[in-house]
Amino acid sequence: MQSIVSYKDRGNFGDSKYRGNCTGYIIKDLIQHFYPTSKPKKFIEIFSGGGTGKDVAKELNITNSLHLDLNNGWDALIGEIPSGSDFIFSHPPYWDIISYESQRNSYSENDLSNKMPYEEFIHKLDIVNEKIYHSLLYGGRHAILIGDVRKQRKYYSIIKDMTWFGDLESHIIKAQYNCVSDNKVYYNNNFIPIKHEHLLVFRKNKIWLFNRTYTNTIEINIMQVTNITWRDLIQATLQYLKNEATIDEIYNILVRSKKAENNNHVREKIRQTLNYNSNFKKVNSKWVLEIK
Ligand SMILES: C[S@@+](CC[C@H](N)C(=O)[O-])C[C@H]1O[C@@H](n2cnc3c(N)ncnc32)[C@H](O)[C@@H]1O
Repeated sequence: MQSIVSYKDRGNFGDSKYRGNCTGYIIKDLIQHFYPTSKPKKFIEIFSGGGTGKDVAKELNITNSLHLDLNNGWDALIGEIPSGSDFIFSHPPYWDIISYESQRNSYSENDLSNKMPYEEFIHKLDIVNEKIYHSLLYGGRHAILIGDVRKQRKYYSIIKDMTWFGDLESHIIKAQYNCVSDNKVYYNNNFIPIKHEHLLVFRKNKIWLFNRTYTNTIEINIMQVTNITWRDLIQATLQYLKNEATIDEIYNILVRSKKAENNNHVREKIRQTLNYNSNFKKVNSKWVLEIK
């Protein structure tokens, strides 16, 4: 197995009509890669959907496997993950991109594919991922397959936003074929279509301690940072002032910046920066941004 994988057909594993199913080859390759001479002690598949992992287990003659999903009565949010596993494969819903309620023909309030705010989805996914991690045997692995989502022009990177439990051992990019969105006609298509999924493999390398890694996004005003040049502050100010401003107008804004706090010559600094950068041009008494 290498860090980029591509499977043009999904193979004869599970229900090919189950929406959002994955190829069995990826599960097979993972197991054969990590357990080349033996079999996993216990293989568990979470979010088993249309039975892909079960057919892989059958083909590899793994008899000690479990395949759990709401559609066979097991709920990842409230159910216990059976313990004693050294290999867990999970393939959660990609937020609410595909609804599994209609496939099952029944509503479950804990279905991770229900319509919900993104933060709530990430929180629920984190709960499941932490339970998966703790259930692993020391030395065991959790391989999670998940894609990114674009919604109303906003890009959501689930792997970046979810919490990571344990040590990342591999990050594999899987080429994605036959998405439902392939047939969609986009009227504003100046974006790059998502044609890949991520397969992250986490390993439990310690018995008592584990790493919990998460991304913290905070919005910061550039007026509050010092690691910014005067040139960049002036560029932002000119854009804010509709690209036409006197030195006084620029000064009145930037004098309140964090960068100005320790500078007794802010006005001179602004004048110098305007004069020495070719992207700033004086037209009559006003300064404009003119990108060369
Ligand atoms: C992307 S699909 C998995 C597809 C599967 N890998 C296959 O090849 O068919 C995600 C699955 O998560 C299941 N699911 C969603 N919320 C769940 C929950 N709370 N507990 C258990 N399964 C859940 C859905 O029923 C669905 O089958």
